[in-house]
Amino acid sequence: MLDQQTINIIKSTVPVLEKHGEAITTRFYQLMFGNHPELLNIFNHANQKQGRQQKALAGTVYAAAMYIDNLEAILPVVKQIAQKHRSLGILPEHYPIVGKHLLLAIKDVLGDAATDEIIDAWSNAYNVIADVFISVEAELYDESENQQGGWSGFRNFIVDRKVVESEVITSFYLIPENNKGIAAFAPGQYISIKLEIAGEKFTHIRQYSLSDSPGKDYYRISIKREAGTENPDGLVSNYLHDGVNEGDLLKVSAPAGDFVLDTAKNTPVVLLSGGVGLTPMMSMLKTVVEVQPKRKVTFVHAAQNGNVHALRTEVEELSNLDNVNSYFFYDSPTEEDRKKNRYDVEGYITGEWLKETIDTNDADFYFCGPVPFMKAINRSLKELGVKADRIHFEFFGPMGNLEE
Ligand SMILES: Cc1cc2nc3c(=O)[nH]c(=O)nc-3n(C[C@H](O)[C@H](O)[C@H](O)COP(=O)(O)OP(=O)(O)OC[C@H]3O[C@@H](n4cnc5c(N)ncnc54)[C@H](O)[C@@H]3O)c2cc1C
Ligand code: HEM
Repeated sequence: MLDQQTINIIKSTVPVLEKHGEAITTRFYQLMFGNHPELLNIFNHANQKQGRQQKALAGTVYAAAMYIDNLEAILPVVKQIAQKHRSLGILPEHYPIVGKHLLLAIKDVLGDAATDEIIDAWSNAYNVIADVFISVEAELYDESENQQGGWSGFRNFIVDRKVVESEVITSFYLIPENNKGIAAFAPGQYISIKLEIAGEKFTHIRQYSLSDSPGKDYYRISIKREAGTENPDGLVSNYLHDGVNEGDLLKVSAPAGDFVLDTAKNTPVVLLSGGVGLTPMMSMLKTVVEVQPKRKVTFVHAAQNGNVHALRTEVEELSNLDNVNSYFFYDSPTEEDRKKNRYDVEGYITGEWLKETIDTNDADFYFCGPVPFMKAINRSLKELGVKADRIHFEFFGPMGNLEE
């Protein structure tokens, strides 16, 4: 436990570190990747280049430091991050590396203002925070390895089938190479895939939500080919579409994530998705149908048009059931879409539409999609008075703030 003086130093210096947040994190990654280039096998290079993840790690260390005398309060956040760490294969021995380079970066940026006393206090505080992460992650590794069909780290899976779902989305059905069972998962969870791509110096890891319901002898993921407009095309998604074929092997980590459908509840469920954000929603929809056939579920999906709309027939077939409703929104329908009446509403999902169509009083809302889509849905739900504990969402990238 830290002494009171250390705690006081930490709390009084957090604002200073936050003020220099960007400079410290930039320096931190420069120093760390300079000394430990092997960590580029784990970190997402595109997130680094876009600055999307930079703030998350150090920012969370500062936020945790504010609660250094009451770390219980931040356990829910730690548990969420730990899920991603476990799925990426972050290990206890990685923590001192991060700690050392964070302190070096603080020293570099603050210069003389970073006295020995301050650096010592931060070193102690980082160790306390790191221990919390390490112990939560140890439990997750243990659970994932010791469950039926479970494993630790990455395991070889064969691409059994590749199914084109739209012009941009293709599903991959993955079965384990050793033919032994696979771990169960909760609808909404994801797996990580680690790839060695010819010509690439480092391995690349990406997360993909499981798009079918649990209980099968395969995992299904459905992947959008990310085209760069001004930026380079997405590395892994394009490689999976073009370079990975049926019969090929992929390295997969066991299902993870805390964005999961609560099947202990019987409240109506509303699943809202934009584009490829429909993958966890498909798993949730199918799960409700299979295990809670009396529970009311509404599936609302927004796509550009029918050409890029994946898994439409799967949803349409389920919509014939009494407890299922579905609505498709197209913002740029094609002539063909209009002729064939392939969508319900032209435009975006709005608060007014939700208010008119959905009884928001007791429903649980789950959503996923591009960040602007998620911000709009979040705002609408808040305006409609939906309580925070009924709002659940997943970012298909580094966690962000929907209120910004
Ligand atoms: C929990 C979770 C679940 C997910 N589930 C799914 C899913 O079910 N289906 C799915 O398709 N995806 C899913 N994703 C997203 C997925 O993990 C990948 O992020 C996605 O496939 C893009 O990866 P990529 O390697 O193709 O693109 P990357 O190479 O990582 O590029 C990502 C973006 O950055 C841009 N970019 C690349 N290089 C640069 C640069 N130098 N400068 C500026 N911009 C650059 C690219 O144009 C692209 O838009 C999920 C993500 C998470 C976190
Ligand atoms: C106490 C120390 C740490 C804190 C507070 C922390 C915090 C975070 C946070 C907030 C995220 C974003 C989660 C998300 O977007 O879902 C994240 C992701 C990640 N963390 Fe950590 N982390 C710590 C230690 C480490 C260590 C030791 C490593 C490995 C060297 C590591 C590697 C990663 C990676 C690879 C990601 C995924 C992000 C990406 O690649 O873009 N973290 N961490």
